[in-house]
Amino acid sequence: MTEPIRFYHRNAIREIKDAPVTRTVLQYLREDVHCTGTKEGCAEGDCGACTVVLGERNAAGGVDFKTVNACIQFVPTLDGKALFTVEDLRQPDGSLHPVQEAMVECHGSQCGFCTPGFVMSMWSLYEKHGHEHSCANKTVPSRDTISNALTGNLCRCTGYRPIVDAAVRMFEAPPPKAPVNVEALAATLAKLERTDTFHYQHAGQQFDAPRTVAALAKIKEAEPATRILAGSTDIGLWVTKMMRELGNIVYIGQIAEFQKLETNDDWIEIGAGVSVEKAYTEIIKQYPELFEMQQRFASLPIRNAGTLGGNIANGSPIGDSMPGLIALGAHVIVRGGEIEREMPLEDLYLAYQKKDMAEHEFVVGLKVPTRTGVRKNFQFRTYKLSKRFDSDISAVCAAFSFIADGDVIREPRIAFGGMAATSKRATHAEAVLRDAEWHEATAQAAMIALGNDYAPLSDMRATSNYRLEAAKNTLYRFWLETRPNNPLPKSALDVRAVAAACAPAGANV
Ligand SMILES: Cc1cc2nc3c(=O)[nH]c(=O)nc-3n(C[C@H](O)[C@H](O)[C@H](O)COP(=O)(O)OP(=O)(O)OC[C@H]3O[C@@H](n4cnc5c(N)ncnc54)[C@H](O)[C@@H]3O)c2cc1C
Ligand code: FES
Ligand code: FES
Repeated sequence: MTEPIRFYHRNAIREIKDAPVTRTVLQYLREDVHCTGTKEGCAEGDCGACTVVLGERNAAGGVDFKTVNACIQFVPTLDGKALFTVEDLRQPDGSLHPVQEAMVECHGSQCGFCTPGFVMSMWSLYEKHGHEHSCANKTVPSRDTISNALTGNLCRCTGYRPIVDAAVRMFEAPPPKAPVNVEALAATLAKLERTDTFHYQHAGQQFDAPRTVAALAKIKEAEPATRILAGSTDIGLWVTKMMRELGNIVYIGQIAEFQKLETNDDWIEIGAGVSVEKAYTEIIKQYPELFEMQQRFASLPIRNAGTLGGNIANGSPIGDSMPGLIALGAHVIVRGGEIEREMPLEDLYLAYQKKDMAEHEFVVGLKVPTRTGVRKNFQFRTYKLSKRFDSDISAVCAAFSFIADGDVIREPRIAFGGMAATSKRATHAEAVLRDAEWHEATAQAAMIALGNDYAPLSDMRATSNYRLEAAKNTLYRFWLETRPNNPLPKSALDVRAVAAACAPAGANV
């Protein structure tokens, strides 16, 4: 039996009974309820014109707010959540919210097409950061935090400086007249919470949102072809860009066990439903070398919606998480029926779009070894090569690690994305490094060996030659950053840091 989709929007609980399963939140907003403040630019999660904020009840009984791209989220996934759009920012007396006021004051908008999306990214930051207004105690997030919050929004006419200025100004303005009552919202969302699998259907297409892993396992066993939907940041595009029919869907966003995020003595354990943003934040506590990768993985709204489990399960040869996780020695856990299997992550990938995962199996989670024991002398780096810093797909993604035993290399692990049909270890180069002394000559020999490990393709992102040369150069950079004598700091090698250091005072690099 089908049940209506229930969610909170515009101060009321909405019920939807007749929307197609893959109707996007953006279509619902613009076409069904005529909330046309939210815009459509690209329909693929890139431009941010459709940015909305979702409120979800958290374990502490409060509400977490996160930006997502409405163009690639499906309406049934709203069940139990709160949806906020630019229309919600209007104050009861018709006045502007401080976020909007700041955009006006700082001239942060010209044609205005991108503005609602920027405003929602800013509002999410405003809610997250806290906006208790006290002249004596004003706090404004750092410029990096503001830039990070805006990574998913493109503006083609205003320029970003006035918008960033507005993101600072909004914290200095008086608070909104009618701020969100988080307690009341949490209570409303608690009432919407279901105790069992939510089942919805439209035109014969089924949508199930189980609440336990056991229920998911049953659904997949009964009908293995049922498509697992996690954050929808890959799948959404299959619908909006490729017009693919998805068949029946099982959504894993309501499974509490999949939100597991724990670090114990030996492992960082990450459930399949943990967002890319949260998963990286946890791993970075042990491996700060991954910080730049987190910043450069898509944009904040995509990292908020997309899961690390989805990145791994999708297993794109140009996915960014696999090389780093393989170099860290991560394990993946898959389950089919009652049976769970654990394997080194690299073993999951058999060939292009072929995984060691039967159709009824699914990813339960991931385990990353902690930086303890011999790993105290662990050397680790990842490098993403793409044309833009933020929100771009890698041409090459490199990851290197080893345990330093004095000057000797133990247990080297090298993995690349963008160099083969899957994320793949460089076994020839690893063999050169294994138990060798870490000299420049060793690095150069391993660079040559990379030519035996990979025969990359040419495509729109890079030529085969570029990929191979660039891959070798990342290995040389790894040497420069980790050599026993006089290792160079990232700031000496990072093109952005070097450009900033060489730029004339006041230049915007
Ligand atoms: C604008 C944009 C920018 C992006 N930038 C990057 C980037 O910089 N780097 C990068 O690596 N990726 C990027 N991506 C791709 C995407 O965000 C990631 O691959 C993301 O991690 C996918 O996770 P998801 O939860 O959204 O997966 P979904 O889209 O929900 O699912 C993806 C696939 O995984 C399967 N799946 C999901 N969870 C499971 C599970 N638990 N068990 C079995 N199968 C499962 C689904 O059935 C589907 O086949 C980008 C995407 C967009 C739209
Ligand atoms: S319309 Fe461009 S990100 Fe959604
Ligand atoms: S104001 Fe025109 S795109 Fe940003």
